[in-house]
Amino acid sequence: MSKTKHRDAVPSDALVIFGVSGDLAHKKIFPALYAMVKHGILNVPVVGIASSQWSVAQLRKRARDAIKESGKIDDKPALDHLLSLLGYVSGDYNDPHTFTALKAALGDARRPAHYLAIPPVLFEAVVKGLGVAGLADQARVIVEKPFGRDLASAQQLNRLLRSVFTEDAIFRIDHYLGKEAIMNILYFRFANSFLEPIWNRNCVASVQITLAEDFGVKGRGAFYESAGCLRDVIQNHLFQIVALLAMEPPAYQGYGAVHSEKAKVFQAMRPLRPDDVVRGQYAGYRKEPDVAKHSDVETFCALRLSIDSWRWEGVPWYLRSGKCLAATAAEVIVELKPPPQRLFDDSAPADGRANYLRFRLSPNTAVALAARVKRAGKEFVGDQRELYLLEQQPGEARPYERLLGDAMAGNGALFTREDAVEAAWAVVDPVLEKHHRVHSYKPGSWGPKQADALIAADGSWYNPLLEKVTK
Ligand code: BG6
Repeated sequence: MSKTKHRDAVPSDALVIFGVSGDLAHKKIFPALYAMVKHGILNVPVVGIASSQWSVAQLRKRARDAIKESGKIDDKPALDHLLSLLGYVSGDYNDPHTFTALKAALGDARRPAHYLAIPPVLFEAVVKGLGVAGLADQARVIVEKPFGRDLASAQQLNRLLRSVFTEDAIFRIDHYLGKEAIMNILYFRFANSFLEPIWNRNCVASVQITLAEDFGVKGRGAFYESAGCLRDVIQNHLFQIVALLAMEPPAYQGYGAVHSEKAKVFQAMRPLRPDDVVRGQYAGYRKEPDVAKHSDVETFCALRLSIDSWRWEGVPWYLRSGKCLAATAAEVIVELKPPPQRLFDDSAPADGRANYLRFRLSPNTAVALAARVKRAGKEFVGDQRELYLLEQQPGEARPYERLLGDAMAGNGALFTREDAVEAAWAVVDPVLEKHHRVHSYKPGSWGPKQADALIAADGSWYNPLLEKVTK
């Protein structure tokens, strides 16, 4: 992944943030910009743009508050430098004057990176406005999720972006790809030789991925009503994890090769049918602000996925995610097939668990390989113990710091490509509207019992345990 084309790419000479007054900017972007300045990655003008009638001083105050809220200010010169880089333009995205004002604010900058941290309904006005104002030439565009809400809208959005920008200037964000633990899946798979012989239908019995959160929609009821769990985290975050786990080795050292292999995984996924999906809703969701009284939107989703490829034929992939579950944790379990004969009384699957490889993705990171070892004594019985391969490493960059820095450097490795996004939508498209009703579940549980029935033929869910986080 090191000898990539982006080495020749010219870095962006300004960053424009559309939607700078919004929640995403407050929670994620300002802290990321601060970290980028601290680490010497950002030293170009940053122009915020939004409809609020703010002064630059107000924007600076907002940035300072956001950074303070996200943690300690431990580098005052870096903060001051960031604040000195900030500029602000207020205006309506449908008004051409807004883009004239932006051009003026950009001064000598010729290769800005435009970050669209705005609701999707505004994408069209902004992308067209940039094109008409001549602000797209040599520029890059960074697009936040959700990238469309189904296959047709994703295709439309791609067409819109491609009418103004070239594909290598488009950076579609899925912040999961900026997480160390997820990058490690790619590294771990292809930097080691012991895995490849077992990484297929001959040795893998099933794969499970859980992304659990112990909190509700946290005031995002309106967004959730329009999205639901399948669109919010499964079609993107969890599918990206599946692609990294399931892809073939890239044909050459470069991110284009990784993108191509990931796209092939989505293309090989069998389109979902209603019986492959269990939708749940936590009790109390309908009382959240901006949620319909009789809402059928899912806050939990479990599904069974098949990848029709030479490597994965017959291996079931089980994915689940939900709000208000028993824990906040994300984990992958690759369950291996049991030994061909039961030589010992406690051999798997008698005790229910075969060997597995576990990738803990959050809140801590770990890779563990579970294997059985004999207990001391006369009997040939043992326990499944984990060989722990990695624990959290200090100094991990947060996803937005990494992703914004990469986009500005023209490095598209950790972004999603047009064909992959569309192929992923094609898998979920058949069940977005046609599905079974939601099942209610108790907050603090692991979701509706129907999710257990979904996996029953192949075992049961591994509920991520809360591990001690070592720092
Ligand atoms: C976001 C979703 O994309 O990812 C949220 O919109 C979800 O609903 C979040 O909570 C999870 O991300 P992370 O990084 O906190 O695991």
